[in-house]
Amino acid sequence: EMSPEDRAFQDRIDAGEKIEPKDYMPEGYRKTLIRQIGQHAHSEIVGQLPEGNWITRAPTLERKANLLAKVQDEAGHGLYLYCAAETLGVSRDDLTEQLLSGKMKYSSIFNYPTLTWADMGAVGWLVDGAAIMNQVPLQRTSYGPYARAMVRICKEESFHQRQGFHIMMAMVNGTAEQKRMAQDALNRFWYPALMMFGPSDKDSVHSAQSMAWKIKINTNDELRQKFVDETVPQAEYLGLTIPDEALSWNEETGHYDFTEPDWSEFFDVIAGNGPCNTDRLNVRQKAWDEGAWVREAMVAHAEKKRARKLA
Ligand code: 3HC
Repeated sequence: EMSPEDRAFQDRIDAGEKIEPKDYMPEGYRKTLIRQIGQHAHSEIVGQLPEGNWITRAPTLERKANLLAKVQDEAGHGLYLYCAAETLGVSRDDLTEQLLSGKMKYSSIFNYPTLTWADMGAVGWLVDGAAIMNQVPLQRTSYGPYARAMVRICKEESFHQRQGFHIMMAMVNGTAEQKRMAQDALNRFWYPALMMFGPSDKDSVHSAQSMAWKIKINTNDELRQKFVDETVPQAEYLGLTIPDEALSWNEETGHYDFTEPDWSEFFDVIAGNGPCNTDRLNVRQKAWDEGAWVREAMVAHAEKKRARKLA
């Protein structure tokens, strides 16, 4: 039976009200928001690594500038989201330690390697395309700071997706070898992109409660279906083949029927056994260790400033 405060809280959620940091919220609401926003922030920071791998090897100055801008944006998205998480009473240091110890996750997609320049096209087109599908509804999530962070992030994501699609356009209209590279990148990133939306609804442990609290607006399968429906015509436009023999338009449902990802691979990757998990966390651990002196210096400086003001 709900307590009177929880009942009043649920009435606010049902009325579509925004919950702000100082408002009453059930402990479970706070906990799942810290989990989701924290992991979303980790995804942005770890998500810089696959693309960072190609900044020094971009084929032209323009491509290099675009990629640099995108990776820089992801860092900013991470900061917006860590700030949103801090309003729930958790520290950035604590969230980072939980990432590095494997206690907190980041998006599975970033555990796949980026092997050729065409992967920069596939990542922008498919990964940021999927991220947009998932983040646009989150602009209406019930927690105020998270919804507002999403509004800013979604504005930048469309540029990320456009620059990726533009790279794919250049490759498919290039030499036969470049078109083959673009197809190879699509082959390797298609199913991992579908996994970004989370497990099937029947296997989603958080969806029911997250939807009751309007933290999650659409189910995992709904957004995955939307992504497939919008991306198949784009692949056709590029003259690329989606690596799914069973993909076909279903006149009755008005959606594409498609093959689900290999969920055993998904659960393996989020358990830490993907192709790049160890490498990604080692890079983040190194950055954390090497940045310790900067954090200490900032704290010492802030303390001196405070002491001077008091003196
Ligand atoms: N990668 C890693 N873990 C995943 C995952 C994925 N793609 N999908 C689901 N999981 C995890 C969940 O976190 C949960 O584990 P936990 O209890 O340890 O947190 C478990 O699998 C069960 O999944 P559920 O569906 O029950 O969990 P959620 O209700 O949290 O749904 C989600 C998962 C749809 C990813 C949801 O958390 C969400 O919408 N998160 C915010 C969006 C986000 O994180 N997007 C990352 C995209 S990448 C990105 O944004 C960077 C872009 O700019 C390139």
